[in-house]
Amino acid sequence: MSRSPNQDETRSAAHGRRRIFSGIQPSGSLHLGNYLGAIRQWVRRQDERSDEVESFICVVDLHAITLPQDPESLRRQTRELFALLIACGIDPERTTLFVQSHVRAHTEATWMLLCATPLGWLERMTQYKVKAQRQESVGAGLLTYPVLQAADILLYDAHEVPVGEDQKQHVELCRDVAQRFNHLYGETFVVPEPVIPQVGARIMGLDDPSAKMSKSDSAARGHAVLLTDPDAEIERAIKRAVTDSGNEIRFSDDPEKAGVDNLLSIYAAVTGRSRAECEADFADARGYGDLKKRVAEVVVDVVGPIRERAAELLRGDHRELDRLVALGAERAAAIAEPKLAQMRERLGFLPAPR
Ligand code: AMP
Ligand code: TRP
Repeated sequence: MSRSPNQDETRSAAHGRRRIFSGIQPSGSLHLGNYLGAIRQWVRRQDERSDEVESFICVVDLHAITLPQDPESLRRQTRELFALLIACGIDPERTTLFVQSHVRAHTEATWMLLCATPLGWLERMTQYKVKAQRQESVGAGLLTYPVLQAADILLYDAHEVPVGEDQKQHVELCRDVAQRFNHLYGETFVVPEPVIPQVGARIMGLDDPSAKMSKSDSAARGHAVLLTDPDAEIERAIKRAVTDSGNEIRFSDDPEKAGVDNLLSIYAAVTGRSRAECEADFADARGYGDLKKRVAEVVVDVVGPIRERAAELLRGDHRELDRLVALGAERAAAIAEPKLAQMRERLGFLPAPR
């Protein structure tokens, strides 16, 4: 049995810096939950000392097509997501921000990894079982989805994969696949760790505070705050948020008070204030109207500039955006290609004729 390399060894394998990799699908529209629960963490990590960490953020269009997509919408959403990530603070000069399908190595590596993945590992995946149940006919891509995700991560020798709780199982599968490949063909991959946010701001739907704010429901009016929503729309959605018949503004586990708890959680996450400070801020509020008004204000303050910056990048012929998309693809390929060449060599493929 070969052992997996320890942290110091893997650190040196990636030229001294810890590599962070995450991905996000260009399906549906980005909402406040995505920003507070995921993207903001990526930005914070990027802003740490650049001699210590190196970040990769991938817009995973190949993953999006595991469920049917309208081609025109996919194109629009891919561009929009790329622009929104930049608008949220991902700096394409410091972070390698790229579109998955632009780096061909991802699809090629997926095939090689698939052949080293037992079918049973994939059939066990919770997300596959849930998604397959909802579909009338199930594409094979839905089953092999986590291996594409493993290829994303392994091609970059990533140490850390910041994801939501729901993706933990996929990152664990990625670890298993990496270890198996290393065992079968010799040390090739860094075995990555999932990083789940501790106080995972889990933002709930405004229309139904018992369900997570989600991209798939975000088309429903009043469900989500989208990062592209105009101020008036944000104000309206928050004003209409479901609460309860009481008037106590406090954090609570009581399902009855889930709406108020969610609004306070949004307020806390956006302002960075502690729970006690947040409750104190509303000590002399007169009812939920005051709470909603104040929450809407702080949300508009963060979302407004994001929306405007993204709109600027998407305006006209979006030449600057296209330049950044190309830059990301080039930088990502420079890392993925040599890794792919190493995989090919390990597997015993003849060098490709030039
Ligand atoms: P998804 O929208 O499911 O593709 O998720 C993209 C990222 O946003 C993942 O890292 C999720 O964990 C995070 N995320 C999605 N919805 C929420 C939510 N309602 N609250 C907090 N984080 C979320
Ligand atoms: N499957 C992830 C999701 O739906 C997105 C994803 C694709 C990803 N490749 C990744 C996340 C690599 C982390 C690392 O949220």
